[in-house]
Formats: sequence, structure tokens, C-alpha cells
Amino acid sequence: MNYCREIVENLYYVGADDHRIDLFENIHPLTERGVSYNSYLLLDEKTVLVDTVDWAVVRPWLENIEMVLAGRSLDYLVVNHMEPDHCAGIEEIALRYPDIQIISTEKALMIMTQLKYRGIEGKSIIVKEGDTFNFGKHTFTFLEAPMVHWPETMVTLDLTNGALFSADAFGSFNALDGRLFADEVNFDRDWIDETRRYYTNIVGKYGAHVQDLLRKATPLLDKVKFICPLHGLIWRKDFDYILDKYVKWSTYEPEETGVLIAYASMYGNTEEVAQLLAGLLVRKGITNVVLRDVSRSDVSWLIADTFRLSHLVLASVTYNLSIYPKMLAYMEDMKMINIQKRTVALIENGSWAPTAGSLMKEFLNSMKQMDVLNEDLTIISAITESKFIGLEAIADNIIDSMQK
Ligand code: FEO
Repeated sequence: MNYCREIVENLYYVGADDHRIDLFENIHPLTERGVSYNSYLLLDEKTVLVDTVDWAVVRPWLENIEMVLAGRSLDYLVVNHMEPDHCAGIEEIALRYPDIQIISTEKALMIMTQLKYRGIEGKSIIVKEGDTFNFGKHTFTFLEAPMVHWPETMVTLDLTNGALFSADAFGSFNALDGRLFADEVNFDRDWIDETRRYYTNIVGKYGAHVQDLLRKATPLLDKVKFICPLHGLIWRKDFDYILDKYVKWSTYEPEETGVLIAYASMYGNTEEVAQLLAGLLVRKGITNVVLRDVSRSDVSWLIADTFRLSHLVLASVTYNLSIYPKMLAYMEDMKMINIQKRTVALIENGSWAPTAGSLMKEFLNSMKQMDVLNEDLTIISAITESKFIGLEAIADNIIDSMQK
């Protein structure tokens, strides 16, 4: 007996939760709250499965499909995205339902073939932007969504019931654990952090492509009644809330005025400076301050906070005449993901040849629209009374830049 819930008449959620995965894409740590792989099944004159799931949950997902089909066969599979966390079930479906037709973009078929799935030969129907396909009462239309999150991606709108199958867009970490709709949780309290961490680390690099998709989808928005992503909760109200987040994230605008102090400290001296700066900011009225040790915080959390907040302080010890490796890794990730439009203050530490500050500045200058503040600070081993004055100047400089 599995968990299948009707979203709207004749459209069912048939996906499954995964609480055993530790690393999403084998890189991003998941919390104990896990992740869901979403898949949807429409019962019309024809039966239509929308996307498959990760191999880890194929068995419960197949049981869900069988339960909802209740003896019917499966006529069509719509493939919106070919990353294996969503397409690993294709071969199993093609072998179990040999008469199935697989609807996808041409690039998706190419990847399907590259992945050597058996049973897909002669079953493909290629669709392009704006094509429509009728299954009885329901008509689907397809919008290409390249790089949201892979080049083959499309999103599919059911013009009859208003379900937008949005692929990775609007997805989130966290398993559903019995819930289905975003309005069944306190989203802003319990889900937004993992939704941001998912978006920024998985899709964050492709802001321009997300913008293209949002632009293309805007004329269709009045037809959308449900946003059904491939991970996380389904949206059926409050679209403005999540759309506003997507506009900010995809244009790299911060959500909040606040400061992320990311520090790299070997023996606690640079950490002490970071702590003192946090205290100064709070005493001066800036309470939205987050401290993160780059050696302790996974980079996915650093990236998520960098997207969220307007200001960034990078405080790094010098290591082998370079930026501390964990700090450098974070900065390289920021650059790879295209983070921009942030105001940054720099603090370096070095006991005999501090170089981290100038190297960080050089690195930031190679990124887009990173505004490096004039006030910076060099610590020689440990902070002194005279250097504390410089730290106060950094705090004032940050606060001044917030008021511009
Ligand atoms: Fe959840 Fe790009 O796959």
C-alpha cells in the first residue's frame, strides 16, 4: 500500500520520498528530511505518466503507478528532464509497458539513447516549443526550458486542468512526508531554506535561462492552477510568493539586507575577528548577520546564504601564500554559479606574509558586479586594540553602503 494522492480530478501524485540519500548529485549534503522524486499520472481516455524517478525509489513508484492505473495500461510517458534522478525509471516503464509512447524533446531522446536504456526503440514522439498533444479530454502544450536545468529540459502545461509540470523549476530539497501542497506547510518557516539551497546550488548558474522561461511562461500564467515540480511540494496558491523568489534568485538580487561573514580560521584568531565584527554590526543595529566557518559549513549553505543576503564579509587566513583552500573553493563556487551584485568587505590574516586579502580582491574583480568596499583589514596573527579601530571602520563602511 503506497501513498498516491489526487491533485485534481484524474491527476495523481505517484512519486516517492528518499530518506537514505546523503549526497544529492553525490555532492550536496541532504538533511535528515531527505528529498522527493515527483512523478505524476493522468487518467484520461489515454493514460499519461509525467516523468519518472531516481533508481532508489523505482519499486514504490511502480507500485504507485499500478495502484492508480487499477488494471489499465500505460499509454504515454512525458519526459520533461533527463537528469537520472528523474529518468532512471524510463527503461523499467518501457519494458513493463511495451506499447507506451515516449514524448520528449529531441535532445532528451539523445540523452536517453546515450544512457543506453533498453526498450525505448520505436517509441519516441518528439515535440517542440508550442506543440500540443491531446489525450482525450486533456491537451498538453510544451515549452522548451533549456538549461533549467539541462539543455534538453522542457516544461509541460495541461491546458485542461492547469497543471504546469515544471521540471526542476520550483523544486526543493525535503521529502514530502505525507504532505503534497505548499499551503499544507508553513513554507516560509520550514521549507524556504531548503528550497533556496536547492535552487541556488542546482539551477543558480542559469539565472538568464530561468528568466527566459519566466518570460515565456508569463502569458500562460492565467491558465496555471498547479505548479508541479520534480522535487518538493506542489503549488496551488500563493504563486506570487515563489515567483518573487525566482525573480530575485534568477536576477541575482539579494532577498534581504544583511551580512554573511564567511571566515577561514586555522586556530581561532581569524574566527575571533569575525565574531568581533558580528558583534559590532549587531550593536550598530544590523541584526541580520550570519557567521559561517568555511571549514564547517558545507559550501551549499554558503552559496544559499550568499544568494539571500546583500553583503558579504570574507575573512581568510593566508595559507601557503594563498587564500585558505576552503575559502578559495567557496569563492570558485560563487564564480561558477555566476553570483553577482553583492557588496563585499575583506579581512586577511597572516603571521609573516599576508596575501589572502589582495588575492581575494583580485578574484572578486574577475566576477560580475561585485562591489568591494574600500575599508579592508590586515591582521598579523591576532587582533590588537589598534586593529579593532579598523574593524569598526569596516562595520561602518558596510552600514553606510546599506544606506545608499
Ligand atoms: Fe532534479 Fe536536474 O534534476
